[in-house]
Amino acid sequence: MNFNIATIPGDGIGPDIIEQTVLVLNKIGEKFGHTFNFTEVLAGGAAIDATGEPLPQETIDICKKSDSVLLGAVGGPKWDNLPGDRRPEKALLGLRGELGLFANLRPALLHRALKDACPLKPEIIGDGLDILVVRELTGGIYFGERGRRNGKFGEEAYDTETYSVHEVERIARVGFESAMKRNKKVTSVDKANILESSRLWRSVVEKVAKDYPEVELNHMYVDNAAMQLVRNPKQFDVIITSNMFGDILSDEASMITGSIGMLPSASLGEGTLGMYEPIHGSAPDIAGQDKANPIATILSAAMMLRYSFNLEKEADCIEEAVTKVLEQNYRTGDIMSDGMKLVGTREMGKLIIDAL
Ligand code: NAD
Ligand code: IPM
Ligand code: MN
Repeated sequence: MNFNIATIPGDGIGPDIIEQTVLVLNKIGEKFGHTFNFTEVLAGGAAIDATGEPLPQETIDICKKSDSVLLGAVGGPKWDNLPGDRRPEKALLGLRGELGLFANLRPALLHRALKDACPLKPEIIGDGLDILVVRELTGGIYFGERGRRNGKFGEEAYDTETYSVHEVERIARVGFESAMKRNKKVTSVDKANILESSRLWRSVVEKVAKDYPEVELNHMYVDNAAMQLVRNPKQFDVIITSNMFGDILSDEASMITGSIGMLPSASLGEGTLGMYEPIHGSAPDIAGQDKANPIATILSAAMMLRYSFNLEKEADCIEEAVTKVLEQNYRTGDIMSDGMKLVGTREMGKLIIDAL
C-alpha cells in the first residue's frame, strides 16, 4: 500500500531522530511491500528562520492532505525571547488545533531490559510497568483566553482553563475504550477540590463510565497522582487527564521507563489522520552531537502504523526490533548503565533497522 507522510524535523535533536525514523520506515516498507512517501515541511524555529512564522499555511495544508504527520521536536533558546504567539511551540498548538487532534496517547512502558535505567527500587517496579496516559490535547489552559491587563497590583497576566462537556466526554471515551483493551482500570486525574473545570470534568467522566461497567474508575487529585506515580506506579492502568496535567504527568511517567527518550505519542482526532511525535523536546543541550535517543520517535512511527494505517504486524515488528536491541545491551547515553554498550543516535537507528 501507499502512504503519504508529512515529516516535520523541527529543531535541536529533531532532525537527527527523524532521520533515523524515516530510515526505519523505509526498511519496513521494503520488508512488507509498502511505499511511504515523505514530504518534509517546516514548523517551529526552522520555519521562523525560513519564513518568519512558526507554522506556515503551506505546512498546515500539506499535513491536512497527508495520511499522517511525523514530528521531531520544536523550540530552543534561539527563539525563547519571541512573543508567545510567534514562538516555535505555537506551531505545535496550531497543528494540534487545526488537525483536530484532541486525544494524545502516551504509553509509558518499562522494557524488561531497562529495569536498571529506572530510578525506582526493584520492589516497586516488580515485573515491569505499563501505563497509558490519555491526555486531552486541544482544550484547557493551553487554548483558553490569555493576556495582560492592569490589575490591583499593576501589570498582570492571565491564562484560563475551560472545558466543555463535549470535550471531556470525547476524551473520556478514548480513555475508557483504551482501558477495555487493557486492564480495565481508569484513573481520572483532576484538581476538583479547587477548580470548577475539574468538577465538570469529574462529573462528565462519571457519566461516561456508566457506559463501561466493566471498567473500574477512580478519581485522583493531580498532586497525589504525581506522588503515587513514584510511590506505587503499578496501581495505574489508564490515566485520563487534562492538557496541562497530562503534559506534566507524562514527563514524570517517562522517567520511570528509564528516560524521556523512550516515550512515544500519538495525537488522534475523529478520522485516521494522526500526528506522531516523541513526548520530549528539542534537547538543545545535546543537539547535533549524535547523542539523542531516537527510540521514542521510532516507537511513535510504530504507533502511526498501528493507529493511522492499521498495519498491526508492521508496528509489532518495529516494537520487537527495539526490544531486541535493548536486550542486546545497546544504550544511548540517557539510558546507559553499568556494563552496557554506549551508542550514538545513528548507530542506535542502524541497530534497530538491522533487527527489523
Ligand atoms: P527536553 O525534553 O527537550 O529536554 C529535557 C532533558 O531531557 C534534557 O536534558 C535533554 O537532553 C533530555 N532529552 C530529551 N530528549 C532526549 C532524547 N531523545 N535523548 C536523550 N536525552 C533527551 O525539554 P526542555 O529542555 O524543557 O525543552 C527544550 C525545548 O524543547 C524548549 O524549547 C521546549 O519548549 C521544547 N519542547 C518541545 C516539545 C515538542 O516539540 N513536542 C516538547 C517539549 C519541549
Ligand atoms: C509536549 C510539549 C508541548 C506541550 C509544548 C512544547 C507546547 O511539552 O508535547 O509535551 O506542552 O504540549
Ligand atoms: Mn511536554
